[in-house]
Amino acid sequence: MQDDKSQKPAAVFHVGDIAVRGDTILAPMAGYSDQPYRSICRKLGSAMSYTEFVSADALIRGNKKSLKLLRYLPEERPLVFQIFGSDPQVILEAAKRIAELEPDIIDLNMGCSVPKVSGRGAGAGLLRDPAKIGRIFNMLSRELPLPVTGKIRLGWDDASRNYREVVRAMQENGARLVAVHGRTKVQAYKGQADWDAIAEIKSIADIPVIGNGDVTCVADIRRMKEHTGCDAVMIARAAIGNPWIFAGKNAGEVTLAEKLVMVRRHLSANLEFYGTELGLILFRKHVSKYIHSIAGARELRTRLLTAETVEAFEQLVSEAESRIARAA
Ligand SMILES: Cc1cc2nc3c(=O)[nH]c(=O)nc-3n(C[C@H](O)[C@H](O)[C@H](O)COP(=O)(O)O)c2cc1C
Repeated sequence: MQDDKSQKPAAVFHVGDIAVRGDTILAPMAGYSDQPYRSICRKLGSAMSYTEFVSADALIRGNKKSLKLLRYLPEERPLVFQIFGSDPQVILEAAKRIAELEPDIIDLNMGCSVPKVSGRGAGAGLLRDPAKIGRIFNMLSRELPLPVTGKIRLGWDDASRNYREVVRAMQENGARLVAVHGRTKVQAYKGQADWDAIAEIKSIADIPVIGNGDVTCVADIRRMKEHTGCDAVMIARAAIGNPWIFAGKNAGEVTLAEKLVMVRRHLSANLEFYGTELGLILFRKHVSKYIHSIAGARELRTRLLTAETVEAFEQLVSEAESRIARAA
């Protein structure tokens, strides 16, 4: 399907005025959804780019590290800056400042379960106070020149699965989209994501709903869409080491040769973005996932993970490529 004049795919849904032209999205992930990896996933089919969450408190202090997390490329658009915080005024002030960097959307994290965040009333800690969520969205939607959205869990614990109330508070106060991880804060990553609850949210929401939680392969994308009716599916853990999931391919369907091409490309983007030393160090966690569970590649993986220089790393990749070429 094409729009009349442009060659762009048709919009699947809108966030305010922003068209989203696809239904599968890389989730925000601290330490992973940085500009290099977001760009790779976006190119392979992720329909929009969420930054990892950034502290509103750090932003208003002008913390340089936090601002760096918000660097992006124009081709990533639609681009979402995700922030977290607990104080409504601080959240508002931070959002106003980063709106000047011209993202398309600002998203409030209400799902982070780690005690350092949720224990201070930020992230999933906000779910304990739907009225406060309403006040925050009211201020943000009135004072910002762009759409405001939120990412939630189902509630704090099993005894307080207040997602209906939270979604109502959000949409009555101007939120333009809700992304839902189908677990409670207390569950963290245990048990199974509750797709029935996501379906229920979709049935009561007037705004687009992104479903999230336990999409582990390409077939799960359709399964979640069919089960919940959600507008789009968000993928976190299953996208680490497999950006091809956004192009409809499972990790097992990608050859080692293709993976090595991606390893080169991703490493080079990392080096450009972070500089040589940090770029290589931060790349190790990706390599480990790219070359995960490939028969016969265990030794290569170990050697790549311990390569101390970019030259040594690239030499190992070249040797592996030659071996593959010879075998073919
Ligand atoms: C390493 C890691 C970092 C994460 N960081 C964030 C984050 O910054 N913001 C956020 O909203 N969720 C974050 N999440 C949660 C994911 O976006 C997602 O909700 C969760 O992993 C469930 O999806 P999955 O089953 O596809 O992994 C993170 C998850 C992981 C595994």
